[in-house]
Amino acid sequence: MIILGIESSCDETACAVMQDDTTLLSHVVDSQITIHRQYGGVVPEIASRRHIESIYPVVDAALKESSLSLADVDLLAVTAGPGLIGALLIGLNFTKAISLVKDIPFVGVDHMAGHLLSVFLGENKPEFPFVAIVASGGHSSLFYAKSYTEFELLGRTRDDAAGEAFDKVAKILGLPYPGGPEISLQAQNGDRDKIKFPRSWLEKGSFDFSFSGLKTSVANYVHKTEERTPEFLADVCASFQEAVVDVLSAKAVQAAQFKKCQQVVLAGGVAANPRLRDLLGKRCRSAGLNIAMPPLDYCTDNGAMICIAGYHQYRQNGPSSLDLDVYSRSPLIMQG
Ligand code: KG4
Ligand code: ZN
Repeated sequence: MIILGIESSCDETACAVMQDDTTLLSHVVDSQITIHRQYGGVVPEIASRRHIESIYPVVDAALKESSLSLADVDLLAVTAGPGLIGALLIGLNFTKAISLVKDIPFVGVDHMAGHLLSVFLGENKPEFPFVAIVASGGHSSLFYAKSYTEFELLGRTRDDAAGEAFDKVAKILGLPYPGGPEISLQAQNGDRDKIKFPRSWLEKGSFDFSFSGLKTSVANYVHKTEERTPEFLADVCASFQEAVVDVLSAKAVQAAQFKKCQQVVLAGGVAANPRLRDLLGKRCRSAGLNIAMPPLDYCTDNGAMICIAGYHQYRQNGPSSLDLDVYSRSPLIMQG
């Protein structure tokens, strides 16, 4: 089966073509980062407009790169939510139009399911069941994945998502959007034990997260001093990053032990963080757990993860109907 996957939930217009859930034939991403950077974050209306401009060329480029045409495509997969409503509508309506005109079935896919399944784009593929930590700009959630389509929510963020905390702390420090890559770069030269920022563990046994207290603590620390030397910045970045990855990785290991499962998966934009990959890897190994993560290129938003999620959803539940609507909050997150 040839699947064409489209993603437009935030500030990337992305398209990929895959054969089944195994062979990636093409992968094109038009990132809007440089456009939104001047405003310090994503401006929804500008994002929608840019998606309108780029969706046709991006899909066309992905088809060309795969050396296929729409006549070869068996299934269209598109992100239906969660995300920015205006941005999601561009991808969904574009997909519906192709579906109708070319008579190709389509499935609306959950973005979080896409991130979670992006791990199957890597060499090291996990076996079900597994505990997955999905940390992105909009969400930080722990799931118990029983199959390609069944995800039990174990915990979620009660305020800021992990990526959101990176983005907001970067803003406090005067670093550009998106904050995650900038902070991880700065952190390489810093001392992660220099400042003891608070870790929010919440109630005993809770797999929920909270990062807004940490963000406030960084803001207070930074505003108390005039110092802005490269050393100062690097130490704040490294110490803040450590507080985030400490909690994320500890809770992921605890969740795997709680569910008595051997396999942990890390996904979402924040999974591109080298310190998180390293620390979670170490903690999993010392707890006797296997760890799997998507390759770096597939941690942040892409069409390939939507192909995989769409492929399995279609096999399980068949196509979506033309009256499918977009949604801003994921039913996967609201289940708990
Ligand atoms: O999954 P994603 O591309 O979009 C959403 O679904 O939100 O994730 C984007 C988020 C941003 O908040 C960005 O700062 C964060 O992922 N991110 C990182 C890194 N690279 C991207 N966070 C920490 N370290 C990184 N290296
Ligand atoms: Zn995402």
